[in-house]
Amino acid sequence: MNSSEFADPRRPRRLRQTGALRTLVREATLAPSDLVYPLFVQHGQGLRTEIASMPGQARLTTDLLPTEIERVAKLGIQAVLLFGLPRTKDEIGSENFASDGIVQQAIKTAKDTVPEMLIVTDVCMCSYTVAGHCGLLGRDGRILNDESLALLARTAVSHAKAGADLVAPSGMLDGMVHALRTSLDDAGFDFTGILSYAVKYASSFYGPFREAADGAPKHGDRKTYQMDPANRAEALKEVALDIEQGTDMVMVKPAMAFLDVVHAVKQAFPAVPLAAYNVSGEYAMLKASAQAGWISEQDAVLELLLGIKRAGADAIISYHAPDVAAWLSQ
Ligand code: PBG
Repeated sequence: MNSSEFADPRRPRRLRQTGALRTLVREATLAPSDLVYPLFVQHGQGLRTEIASMPGQARLTTDLLPTEIERVAKLGIQAVLLFGLPRTKDEIGSENFASDGIVQQAIKTAKDTVPEMLIVTDVCMCSYTVAGHCGLLGRDGRILNDESLALLARTAVSHAKAGADLVAPSGMLDGMVHALRTSLDDAGFDFTGILSYAVKYASSFYGPFREAADGAPKHGDRKTYQMDPANRAEALKEVALDIEQGTDMVMVKPAMAFLDVVHAVKQAFPAVPLAAYNVSGEYAMLKASAQAGWISEQDAVLELLLGIKRAGADAIISYHAPDVAAWLSQ
């Protein structure tokens, strides 16, 4: 007998009662195998350079890489994304495609340490050139789109030669995927995959990364190539083009303020594996509020990453990856 005259027999709360029942009816899941951990590598020996705006993250020299790769592999992380800081920058970013470049060395070291670890490499110019833009800069200050493609393709082939499994062009230049796919195939790397940063917004949430990778533009901003945060339909155009050009996976970046875009891309292209990049500024924001004691880091991060999965991402690139893997195994 119901004690209230207003009692409604429909009770959705029934399914929320016990741990096992809640888990049984859970829609989205989060596992260490969903995660990709970004790593910054630099020249030198025995050098761990903390990144002030990203507490817990550091640039490592390659001699410190084996310990780090082993640590994250033990936690269940199966993929890392490498970013390199060159010894010197020049006009064309020569170290990008040098066989002994920092990323090429790091790929070999990582593969020697844990051969099963999936190695993804960022393919871009901004950390390697003096101008700090994602493509070559013309005299008039404009990005030389098509002239940049050959150098980016050369970089991708060089990463593939060193052992990369997936190359990830992040410059938002037109035609990048076509250039990389053709060059990889011509060089015999038809099984090296492409994870394109298909949908990358001109975001203020990359600030800490630019400190980490020393890749801020000398002049101007990235608005002529990265997308306007106001646009969602345009994301579908970018993804369609990258698929036509032969990308294996696509990415939406950043994640937190763009979950509607993650959802729209998954709805429109359900068969294409989708990654979302939980970027440096999102990490910094959560770290700062956790350090101030204003938020529970573990609860907030797990909620955010689950939200990214629920929105439609298959994989999440996150600086929180090792922490999340450890929390999930508790
Ligand atoms: C390079 C690149 C950037 C990031 C990934 N690759 C910086 C940018 O485009 O300005 C940002 C990653 C992050 O903020 O965590 N093009």
